[in-house]
Amino acid sequence: MNIAIILASGKSKRMGCYECPKQFLEVRNLPLFLYSTMTFENNSLVDQIVIVTNVEHVEKVKALCSKHNISKLSKVVSGGETRKDSVKNGLDALEAKDDDIILIHDSARPLVSDKIITKNIEACREFGAVETAIAPIDTVVFKKEDIIDSIPNRSELLLGQTPQTFKYAIIRKAHEQNLAGVEVTDDCKLVAMLGYPIHFVEGHRSNFKVTYKEDIAIMEAYLNALEK
Ligand code: CTP
Ligand code: MG
Repeated sequence: MNIAIILASGKSKRMGCYECPKQFLEVRNLPLFLYSTMTFENNSLVDQIVIVTNVEHVEKVKALCSKHNISKLSKVVSGGETRKDSVKNGLDALEAKDDDIILIHDSARPLVSDKIITKNIEACREFGAVETAIAPIDTVVFKKEDIIDSIPNRSELLLGQTPQTFKYAIIRKAHEQNLAGVEVTDDCKLVAMLGYPIHFVEGHRSNFKVTYKEDIAIMEAYLNALEK
């Protein structure tokens, strides 16, 4: 079985709207989290969707999914203090077998494509742990305090996106071993800390993470471009 966990429980601090977390911002009359949810719904390989959201929004998410015919929705669960806690709550809600494939996706990446989802599932069948990634456009540097320490070769770097996709047994173990451990913004890091090799599949610039207010305008521009 292929199960998507869609994360929609953040507080959007960088966007500066505490009252209205970005996952519920309406773009073309559709709440942001429903964009990626619908793409997972329409992917022929995805069997189930679990959404993790802020405790006060659980009923709202259920109602919106019902209104928009998200037939694969199995559960809506409340999130935790950090992204890692929210993923853990999503995993705890699953009735999954060791070999089931779990796709973890940020609802803040509304424009994930059907192709990226399929590539994640296919690669995960073979490799067990998969990152979606793209080549950086900018030079990435290491810093020490306010001094640039070293500048790695750009051709050896990738930028991580989501979905990040794992066999259930692997992601389960990674979270269990890190219950009170380091804070991470990313599940691949937890899995890498276990020593598992992580395969990557090509993401896309349009699968960017809506983070700041102006990113909504970028999303609208992509939607316009995709229609052409
Ligand atoms: N997320 C979550 N639970 C948390 C924190 C984040 O489910 N406790 C989700 C967000 O809803 C988002 C994804 O993880 O879809 C990526 O997080 P990010 O873009 O950082 O969103 P926020 O944490 O909401 O934003 P910020 O860091 O600016 O507060
Ligand atoms: Mg965050």
